[in-house]
Amino acid sequence: MIIDGKKVAEELRAKIKSDINKLTGNQKPGLTVILIGEDAASQIYVKNKEKFANEVGINSTVIRFKSSISEEDLKNQIRKLNNDNNVHGILVQLPLPKHINQRDIIETIDPKKDVDGFHPINVGNLSSGNDALVPCTPLGCYYLIKKVVPNLSGLNAVVIGRSNINGKPMTQLLLKENCTVTIVHSKTKNIEEICCRADLIIAAVGIPKMVKSNWIKKDAVIIDVGINRIEVDGKNKIVGDVDFDEVQNKVKAITPVPGGVGPMTIACLLENTLKAFNKISGNAPQ
Ligand code: GUN
Repeated sequence: MIIDGKKVAEELRAKIKSDINKLTGNQKPGLTVILIGEDAASQIYVKNKEKFANEVGINSTVIRFKSSISEEDLKNQIRKLNNDNNVHGILVQLPLPKHINQRDIIETIDPKKDVDGFHPINVGNLSSGNDALVPCTPLGCYYLIKKVVPNLSGLNAVVIGRSNINGKPMTQLLLKENCTVTIVHSKTKNIEEICCRADLIIAAVGIPKMVKSNWIKKDAVIIDVGINRIEVDGKNKIVGDVDFDEVQNKVKAITPVPGGVGPMTIACLLENTLKAFNKISGNAPQ
């Protein structure tokens, strides 16, 4: 089975749109994205975020800065947004230029408006099992997994990659569902052997087609977070961290790249923006 992330994301956006339409009062959720520099991939992501935000009824603004902006000027801009009652979600697109300290920038964002879920308060709340804004990509993976396997209790899950954006929060979400979670990374010995025991694999490493057929157990569920641009016969192609063609007949379900996790990330950003809006406005959760 191929998991249709595009369709699941469409359904989630439709639900968000309907929830926003039902809001009483004259305020709409507001999302501000800060984009620094000219990184090509970031430009595309931000354009899509803006398009889908507006489609569901979120007031979306993009603030662009040259990569020469100072860290202090960027922090002052974030502080302004923290105090702006029309802004409920703030996202600073990563990566940042080298002279800016990513951790200090993330910690400047009001945790209530941190729709990326990267602030230590949200990270801590997620790992303590409290209500939190959860990073969008692992949250999207989680929704896709639950579509295929509603009860995850007791499953062996292997998360490949230990980033703050994906691997670590993914692990927390799976632990909450009573999975037995193993994180493997660049220094792990015998990755293949560990993956072979997994009922569920989430690959988020950024290495094209790293996960091969002999890495997986028959009927495993595979979630591929990778978006890798490679050249095949002189043409640019986007592939995941999993060798899709090789594994697809061995799995129970797998996400394609593109059209799997990618569309879910943006839908979850919109969901987080609505959640932040509801919390800030004192609305009951939808
Ligand atoms: N760059 C790549 N992925 C992300 C993400 O999830 N959030 C932000 N802010 N930047 C990113």
